[in-house]
Amino acid sequence: MAPLTTLLYALSITSALGSSVSESSKPFSQEFRDNYSVLKHYGGNGPYSERRSYGIDRDPPASCAVDQVIMIKRHGERYPSPSLGAGIEKTLSKLDPKTKYQGDLAFFNDWSYYVPNKCLYNAETSSGPYAGLLDGYTHGTEYRARYGHLWDGDAIVPMWSSGYGRVIETARKFGEGFFGYNYSTNAALNIISESESMGANSLTPVCYANRDSATCDGLSNTMPQFKVAAERLNAQNPGLDLNATDVYYLMSMASFELNARASSKWIDVFTQDEWVSFGYVHDLNYYYCAGPGDKSMSAVGSVYANASLTLLNEGPQKTNPLFFNFAHDTNITPILAALGLLTPEEDLPLDRIPFGNPYSTGDIVPQGGHFTIERLSCDKTAISDAGSYVRLVLNEAVVPFHQCTSGPGYSCPLEEYTTIVKGRLPDFVGQCKVPHKDPKSLNFWWKYNSTTELNYRNGSVPCQEAEAQR
Ligand SMILES: *[C@@H]1O[C@H](CO)[C@@H](O)[C@H](O)[C@H]1NC(C)=O
Ligand SMILES: *[C@@H]1O[C@H](CO)[C@@H](O)[C@H](O)[C@H]1NC(C)=O
Ligand SMILES: *[C@@H]1O[C@H](CO)[C@@H](O)[C@H](O)[C@H]1NC(C)=O
Ligand SMILES: *[C@@H]1O[C@H](CO)[C@@H](O)[C@H](O)[C@H]1NC(C)=O
Ligand SMILES: *[C@@H]1O[C@H](CO)[C@@H](O)[C@H](O)[C@H]1NC(C)=O
Ligand SMILES: *[C@@H]1O[C@H](CO)[C@@H](O)[C@H](O)[C@H]1NC(C)=O
Repeated sequence: MAPLTTLLYALSITSALGSSVSESSKPFSQEFRDNYSVLKHYGGNGPYSERRSYGIDRDPPASCAVDQVIMIKRHGERYPSPSLGAGIEKTLSKLDPKTKYQGDLAFFNDWSYYVPNKCLYNAETSSGPYAGLLDGYTHGTEYRARYGHLWDGDAIVPMWSSGYGRVIETARKFGEGFFGYNYSTNAALNIISESESMGANSLTPVCYANRDSATCDGLSNTMPQFKVAAERLNAQNPGLDLNATDVYYLMSMASFELNARASSKWIDVFTQDEWVSFGYVHDLNYYYCAGPGDKSMSAVGSVYANASLTLLNEGPQKTNPLFFNFAHDTNITPILAALGLLTPEEDLPLDRIPFGNPYSTGDIVPQGGHFTIERLSCDKTAISDAGSYVRLVLNEAVVPFHQCTSGPGYSCPLEEYTTIVKGRLPDFVGQCKVPHKDPKSLNFWWKYNSTTELNYRNGSVPCQEAEAQR
């Protein structure tokens, strides 16, 4: 046994070393690696990541408390759609499992496709660290910690999902996470059909009457850099005949692989610059097909923007404090367009990447992406009056609302928010020619079921399930 003095001596050495280490180590890393992560460059295909924004604190300042939350979440991580799956399979068929591949593809002979059964196309994933079902559940637990004060532990709380298989399953997992042991009795899942005949009473409204889709229809899924990638892989493997379209499908396959597996060797097959190009293919797609580049999308998004404005002005006492909604990526981007959030000053160019582009899909609608509107109830401060304020949070990062940032935590006074939103909302019903017989406004937030019968699926998931009501 060491004498006590030796022991004390040893301890003092350790603590001296400890403090000298902490004095030379940096409390703030100086490494940003140019902010690069592949998670930001596969469009909406792959695992969720939080938005990179402006550093505003996610928590409201001490003078405020959130008193109402209106969220819309895209479904969690999923397998490719059947149509993308068909393209991936066609490209994979150009690779022969019996050939010994070289270079970047050397791993191929030990690799297998992560979609073991075509029935899984369209479905939420359930394996690996980025599993879609896990995303829904985890998000629910995180929001319980953040917004649990808005549930009294007793009330039955409605939630709303559009009627699409994977969206409904995301809503259910989120509910299990948020309500924990009380999910079966205290959540009331409402499923809102995706049918066009729902008109404005929908989480998935459409504007077939007045699309501005010429640019969208002409978009290509390839970029010049994809030709370089194809040339590289073909040169490493004589006989291989990949082209730019194949590279698009292989990169798509790589980005979806992480939704089901802990790693993807395919990601390293392509260079960082090629991923930057791949991301931009998706930015163009969202911008021109479901965002501000299609002039009808603002009208589509105005349905949710307007109805949520009504909720914010009614406040939590009149209706409810919690509004959790579930739909798709292309239902969130029109809402952002209606609010004028992240709209670039000029249309996105088709012939080059406009670096610094605010319309970067990886920060807008990754899988599991969500847009959260918070109503804050604030005390008077040195710079602001007591009252109600609004903050917009996209993928857990605060996005200031235009120039309206005078409130605590750079929030916008509710009154000013209301004036700005009202002033910019187009007329969905007129512009999109909603048929006379179809609903003209969103009313399911006020007229909802308080029954729990849809909280669980009754039966198995059908092959490649898309629209669903249960
Ligand atoms: C990180 O990315 C965000 C969003 O693209 C950008 O605003 C910010 O300036 C970047 N920061 C660094 C250190 O590169
Ligand atoms: C919620 O769950 C807990 C734990 O099972 C239970 O004690 C409590 O009574 C439940 N609350 C309601 C309103 O059912
Ligand atoms: C409300 O409940 C009724 C009766 O069970 C059901 O037919 C209907 O589909 C439910 N509506 C929604 C929006 O979930
Ligand atoms: C690549 O090859 C496929 C056939 O495997 C073809 O359908 C596609 O059009 C080609 N793409 C390009 C850019 O040539
Ligand atoms: C806005 O919402 C309110 C209630 O939610 C509704 O009565 C009104 O018709 C809506 N206006 C438009 C232009 O959709
Ligand atoms: C489940 O579905 C079956 C057949 O579709 C039906 O007979 C049964 O009543 C349903 N069970 C519940 C709990 O809804």
